[in-house]
Amino acid sequence: MELSGHVAIVTGAGRGIGRATALELAGMGADIVVAELDQPGAERTAAEVKGLGRHVSVVRTDVTSRADLKAMADRPRAEFGRIDILINNAGIYRAALPLDVTEEHWDAIMNADDDRPEARRDRQPRVDGRQDRQQEQPAL
Ligand SMILES: NC(=O)c1ccc[n+]([C@@H]2O[C@H](COP(=O)([O-])OP(=O)(O)OC[C@H]3O[C@@H](n4cnc5c(N)ncnc54)[C@H](O)[C@@H]3O)[C@@H](O)[C@H]2O)c1
Repeated sequence: MELSGHVAIVTGAGRGIGRATALELAGMGADIVVAELDQPGAERTAAEVKGLGRHVSVVRTDVTSRADLKAMADRPRAEFGRIDILINNAGIYRAALPLDVTEEHWDAIMNADDDRPEARRDRQPRVDGRQDRQQEQPAL
């Protein structure tokens, strides 16, 4: 596949699957936006993308932050004038036995990995006036 002239945002591109995906896309010709929480990891991946001859932009991004997600989209629009691909890779995994999973543990994982409104319990109040599913459930 030829991706010259295309721009790809890769979240969590500082290491692992995100880094490998960013380098694969860069190898196909795409310019890369490294959207990552970990700055040293982001800079390492950015240097590797540059080594492949592609343009790269590092946007410090926490995917659980609405403001960061907006900046993640605004930066490439300003720098490259387009966004073609989003690799929504960033996430966390914390192994625990089911009965050891605390509310804090659950919320940390769901907030990073699953952005559906009904999955987020630390979010802003809904703006559409509808009730969250958890509020509709009878108390146990
Ligand atoms: N590796 C596996 O076997 C496996 C299996 C199933 C799912 N996954 C999922 O695939 C994705 C990548 O896996 P991996 O093994 O490369 O993970 P990894 O932990 O090696 O890398 C994750 C990257 O995401 C970044 N990150 C974490 N939280 C972030 C946040 N809130 N905002 C921005 N960046 C954040 C980290 O700094 C890191 O660079 C994860 O979502 C993971 O849950 C991985």
